[in-house]
Amino acid sequence: SCYCFRGAIPPLTRPLPPPQNKRCTMFYGSQTGTAEEYAVRLAKEAKSKFGISSLVCDPEEYDFSRLDALPSDKVVFFVVATYGEGEPTDNAQEFMEFIMDPDVEFSQGREGNEKLENLRYVVFGLGNRTYEHYNEVARKIDKRLTELGAKRIGERGEGDDDKSMEEDYLSWKDDMWTAFGRDMEIEEGAGGDVADFAVTELGNDTELPVDKIYHGELSARALLGTKGTHDLKNPYLAPIKDARELFSVDAERNCVHVEFDIQDSGMNYQHGDHCGVWPSNPDVEVERMLCVLGLTEKRHVAVSIESLDPTLAKVPFPTPATYEAIFRHYIDISATASRQALAMFAQFAPTPEIAARLTRLGTDKEAYHEEVDGPSPKLAEVLQHVAGDDAEAIPNVENTTVWTQIPFDRIVSSVPRLQPRYYSISSSSKMYPDSIHITAVVLKYESKSSSAHKGKTRWVYGVGTNFILNVKAAHAGENAPLMSEKGTSLAPSVVSSTAGTGVNTPTYRITGPRDAHFRAGSYLVPIHVRRSTFRLPTSPKVPVIMIGPGTGVAPFRGFVQERLAAAKRTIEKAGPGATPAETLKDWADMYLFYGCRKEDEDFLYRDEWPGYIEGLGGKMHLETAFSRGGKRKPDGSKIYVQDLVWDLRDTLTKLILEKRAYIYICGDAKHMAKSVEEVLMKMLGEAKGGTAEVEGAKEFKLLKERNRLLLDVWS
Ligand code: FAD
Ligand code: 2AM
Repeated sequence: SCYCFRGAIPPLTRPLPPPQNKRCTMFYGSQTGTAEEYAVRLAKEAKSKFGISSLVCDPEEYDFSRLDALPSDKVVFFVVATYGEGEPTDNAQEFMEFIMDPDVEFSQGREGNEKLENLRYVVFGLGNRTYEHYNEVARKIDKRLTELGAKRIGERGEGDDDKSMEEDYLSWKDDMWTAFGRDMEIEEGAGGDVADFAVTELGNDTELPVDKIYHGELSARALLGTKGTHDLKNPYLAPIKDARELFSVDAERNCVHVEFDIQDSGMNYQHGDHCGVWPSNPDVEVERMLCVLGLTEKRHVAVSIESLDPTLAKVPFPTPATYEAIFRHYIDISATASRQALAMFAQFAPTPEIAARLTRLGTDKEAYHEEVDGPSPKLAEVLQHVAGDDAEAIPNVENTTVWTQIPFDRIVSSVPRLQPRYYSISSSSKMYPDSIHITAVVLKYESKSSSAHKGKTRWVYGVGTNFILNVKAAHAGENAPLMSEKGTSLAPSVVSSTAGTGVNTPTYRITGPRDAHFRAGSYLVPIHVRRSTFRLPTSPKVPVIMIGPGTGVAPFRGFVQERLAAAKRTIEKAGPGATPAETLKDWADMYLFYGCRKEDEDFLYRDEWPGYIEGLGGKMHLETAFSRGGKRKPDGSKIYVQDLVWDLRDTLTKLILEKRAYIYICGDAKHMAKSVEEVLMKMLGEAKGGTAEVEGAKEFKLLKERNRLLLDVWS
């Protein structure tokens, strides 16, 4: 047969298992996993709505020449992402080439628009509207399949990753399923509501063997204490070598410098790499979740969780684990509640009135937007609001309505896994081989108020960075919330921050000596290193231009240290009496453009730079822009890093065009990086005797292609 099958997934045309006589295949074109997640969700819905089982498949595993041999009671779904200039994901490339071929041939050999006359398909595209080729892959597939005689079910769905992916998906899928039921002549409700997981309570963890129950460990190796490399799958529990605040302004803006000790880890890193930090959830959210679900007394009970259908749902974290460890370390209970989760939980509400309120939030887009999307309450907070509880109070069994009907497996399927946060490493391994430094600005923002908050200001705290702030406090012995072993009694859920402006920081605690993150009296943070291509040129004779305002300066501290370490070696080799200026005279210039609000307020590593400049024999130039309280432009507007770049354009364009300088931009992706890119294009265009749009853009593109213009940006 010409049917080529490489993977472990059963072939498309495998005979159907009785008693179901209908079947869907969901192909995903996925790079980072989002399209795959949506494909899995569609498969789950096919099951719960119609009792239909599906295959979720990587298109790379299939030979699509058999697409015409599918019986018409089967439906193929294409859930495909579009990248860059309208390209498919890697795993969909072959399929796209095959289907777009004007002379495409299928197994049955039919011609023209009869080639795929039996095929029924559904398309959902994932794209980003800020790019020109919005959802081009999905559109092309749709057009081509229709051309070949296939019949689409419902409308084509298109999701916009820039703004509204989830909303786009939700508002598309219901009509699609209605059309699906009609075309396939099946009734909704055939499947009923299905669980993904079986949950078994094993008993109190103190009565169970310690090496069998997870208490925050992120891998089996961590639980068993076996040796092995440390990576994303097996993060290293790093002790804290040092942690301090780089600045703290009115207790509203903090930036924390942390040094993780990696001496015994076997890990290494390079300047420019990223450090993944695995946060925990704050006490207040852990307690809220335990209270709402009526699990406060069962916090130390260990549960084992098994998938009922491993092709559709994998258990997202290691088990058996205690309820408390699951909430504290494994799932993202601090994330804003999703609309679909709210709609699903309505069936488990304690009263019909509460159910109605929750259904409204889960189904009425406007209401969701107003009450949830804007004010960003967490899932358990929404459950409190609709039940009439005071979500502002410290959650406890007296003030919290218990949702006893919610099966725990629904929590597992609807709350995503807690993800690591990434930080640009701010040290050089040449200077600090035994530690990884990060520079994190603590995230707190005022959210929109909703009726549930009665107009009060609501602060939302970033999970990872407030966790890091607590790690710093514990390290400094400030109020050591992380060290507490007191167990279950919940002291204030927030620690007032130093200056007393009323802005508080949630505490993160270890409740029990078995917690994986607490060993021999100190707190350990799970970390791993993610390699990057953000690197200095190997030769110190190549100039570098670094632009990094705010925390964007983080990797550049590492870059400067890296060159300084090399400089020290060169000077040492030159023998006694060698000076930096003399020894490094052939070295190229290093420009660092840094910006912050005020020189004496949030200037990161202010005390370190003079030493670096001296050590580099004057080859390093620090250009600073202070946006508040300092100088202004003649028109009164703020001076930013890109203005300094523009002022120095003659020098910089010479370095770029004649000396093959490398340019690096790091920090805010939304505004800063865009403005800096514009200025670079403008100055390159001018230097080439043309415009920013033509000559500037061309030069800019060339620099990117040659890997001499590198970005490390985030939003
Ligand atoms: P979370 O709990 O994850 O909350 C963040 C979310 O809150 C955002 O996604 C957004 O949805 C929402 N949000 C944030 N602000 C607002 C607002 N004003 N209004 C409404 N909603 C809002 N950070 C650093 O400090 N230093 C670094 O060196 C650094 N390097 C990075 C490198 C890379 C490659 C990447 C991808 C990110 C980097 N970050 C860095 C960002 C960092 O990973 C985290 O995203 C950041 O610290 C916030 O994490 P958190 O857990 O505290 O916030
Ligand atoms: P601002 O907050 O006073 O506007 C680090 O955050 C520094 O980057 C601050 O000085 C901040 O200034 C500045 N900044 C804000 N927007 C910027 C932009 N579009 N380009 C460059 N710098 C910017």
